[in-house]
Amino acid sequence: MRRPIIAGNLKMNKTVEEAVSMAVALKRKFYTFAEADIVICPPFTALSKVHDEIVDSSIMLGAQDVYWEEDGAFTGEISLNMLRDVGCRYIIVGHSERRNIFGETDEDVNRKVKAVLKHGITPIMCIGEKIEERDNGMTFEVLEKQLSRGLKNLFKDEVMRIIIAYEPIWAIGTGRTATPQQAQEAHKFIREFIERSYDKEAYLKIRIQYGGSVKPENIAQLMSQEDVDGALVGGASLDVNSFSEIVKKAV
Ligand code: 13P
Repeated sequence: MRRPIIAGNLKMNKTVEEAVSMAVALKRKFYTFAEADIVICPPFTALSKVHDEIVDSSIMLGAQDVYWEEDGAFTGEISLNMLRDVGCRYIIVGHSERRNIFGETDEDVNRKVKAVLKHGITPIMCIGEKIEERDNGMTFEVLEKQLSRGLKNLFKDEVMRIIIAYEPIWAIGTGRTATPQQAQEAHKFIREFIERSYDKEAYLKIRIQYGGSVKPENIAQLMSQEDVDGALVGGASLDVNSFSEIVKKAV
């Protein structure tokens, strides 16, 4: 049985004070929550203070991106050591907004995944198709390409530590959630890709989150699907009550 994982991606929202007050409220509700992994991914500026707030609770800290180099002249970038220093246990890698707005490639994603693993942090690697790709029947082709390039040259013990987030781009921030069947179909494809590339143990172990307009109203149905192990929540994670509802209904 795979442990559910619900992560809130706050994206470019919330000041330090706002993120901390959210963390305080979440901690109150889920101080010793045993049924799922709960991860909160605030913007970089709030990581340290949010960490101080949740450090002794069951809530874990995640970052929204990272650069793969150790240190040096990379103006504007954040390194793995910096993120580990402030207590990050998870890092989102290859979010569709990074890919589509900032031009991140599958090769960049692969470098980031490897660097994150090397530092003992868990990557949440995002993949997903655009609406025109789905409409043209290319969903599996797109997912296969993102998976094979993003996970290139990874060993089985490494891939089993990764979380994959299936986030169909047409469902992100649009209010248009994938149906539970569409999510299941894509998750099954992803899991089977892992089996083909590695083995049955990796197939059984890898955790796959769904992301894209997840709300308290649709989480239970999504989670009832065999291959859906959690959710990566954007908009609905900005409000403590709706994020809390999602966590409770996911388990
Ligand atoms: P929404 O939940 O706002 O659709 O965002 C999903 C997402 O991109 C999470 O990473």
